[in-house]
Amino acid sequence: MEFRRVADILKNGQPEEAVVVKGWVRTKRELKGFAFTEVNDGSSLAGLQVVLDSDIPDYEANLKQINTGASIEVTGTLVASQGKGQKIELKADTVIIYGEADPETYPLQKKRHSFEFLREISHLRSRTNTLGAVFRVRNACATAIHQFFQEKGFLWIHTPIITASDCEGAGELFTVTNFNLDKLPQDKEGKIDYSQDFFGKPAYLTVSGQLQVEAMAMAFQNVYTFGPTFRAENSNTSRHLAEFWMIEPEMAFCDLEGDQNLAEEFLKYIFQYVLDNCPEDIEFFNKWINKSLLETANNIMSNEFERVTYTKAVELLEKASKKFEFPVEWGIDLQSEHERYLAEELFKKPVIVTNYPKGIKAFYMRLDEGEKTVSAMDVLAPGIGEIIGGSQREERLDILERRIQEMNIEADSLWWYLDLRRYGSVPHAGFGLGFERLVQFITGMANIRDVIPFPRTPDNADF
Ligand code: 4AD
Ligand code: MG
Repeated sequence: MEFRRVADILKNGQPEEAVVVKGWVRTKRELKGFAFTEVNDGSSLAGLQVVLDSDIPDYEANLKQINTGASIEVTGTLVASQGKGQKIELKADTVIIYGEADPETYPLQKKRHSFEFLREISHLRSRTNTLGAVFRVRNACATAIHQFFQEKGFLWIHTPIITASDCEGAGELFTVTNFNLDKLPQDKEGKIDYSQDFFGKPAYLTVSGQLQVEAMAMAFQNVYTFGPTFRAENSNTSRHLAEFWMIEPEMAFCDLEGDQNLAEEFLKYIFQYVLDNCPEDIEFFNKWINKSLLETANNIMSNEFERVTYTKAVELLEKASKKFEFPVEWGIDLQSEHERYLAEELFKKPVIVTNYPKGIKAFYMRLDEGEKTVSAMDVLAPGIGEIIGGSQREERLDILERRIQEMNIEADSLWWYLDLRRYGSVPHAGFGLGFERLVQFITGMANIRDVIPFPRTPDNADF
């Protein structure tokens, strides 16, 4: 008797095969002399229909316990299904109940629940159709990402989670200490004495693995990180998390154009992979979450991304200035409404904006000729806005030192980063893709809290 996953049975199962299935009950229907139950094991959107005849052992007792949410094992034989929808179902010989779920208290019932409500039960919500599909697609995205880079010979680098440097310089750091906050060691003047703390100096959760992955690119040429990053950003939006995953490729001997080419090829590859590997889940999203999802996907696959400089983008935005709440002028950081206008209304496809004013970007970006702009790029996606941020890095020691000074950046923790410009420096470039924004983009899910199993946002570190 073979233990089989539901996805495999629905795809490959043949009548008369004897199988064992384990999973959670989604529904139960009692009729005269028999009952149906649908068992879902997370391997596919659809569950497997199980037919229970009243002549199986302990029929009445089992039936009482087969309620939505209960965990069961069914041994039986596959038979051609009479009903529409599925071609195969399981005729039970025996049933084992592992764990009951009291229908009076089990929070997930057959009706549709709001995403807000489901967030309050993040430990159970993956048993719903939508969240189940989200996390299967999330898994497929992660697989596609590794496959893409491994096929290209990029080395996967595990960058540290705890670091002394603020890569983005935005001051959104979570401090790491081994002291209780009310017992922080103080010096004579009452200031916090970090020399007594675990690392002997201030340490933080990383906001980006970029600085370290740059060092590794200077040994392996093409590398990437894929790990959690943390930002104490106090923005309660549908696109921000305090803990999110980021993919950061870095390429030596590469400029901003090569960086843009990689970003475009990369996004198209992941989309194609998910369409090929999760067709049912994508159909589901297209039907229930965003009716133009498949159209958007085809559009992304079959068109080149638009590429414009920041200066050009501002000109285009100025022409539509009446549409915006935030006034547009050269030098501003593009707001969400500006980004979405470019990607959704004007170009109707992903747009790569390059060469931003140096004043609004990080210290490590390469200074352009004329010194007004830097070799930065943001990829703006329809429905999302910024999905990727990247740049060609400043490889010239003197200019990098000058920029660090101009921007009043605390340089002590960056001595090693400057060393990379002292010894065998080369032009190099990379970017960061927000993993959850990618999953939002591919599924059409409106809120970033619904594409990560246990979201961390201001005032919420539950579960
Ligand atoms: O644009 P960002 O800040 O770029 C960096 O961190 C660079 N060091 C990347 C690099 O060049 N290696 O962040 C990159 C991406 C954004 O485009 C966005 O998709 C995502 O990370 N991101 C967030 N996602 C969810 N919640 C947040 N609070 C995010 N902040 C950034
Ligand atoms: Mg950015």
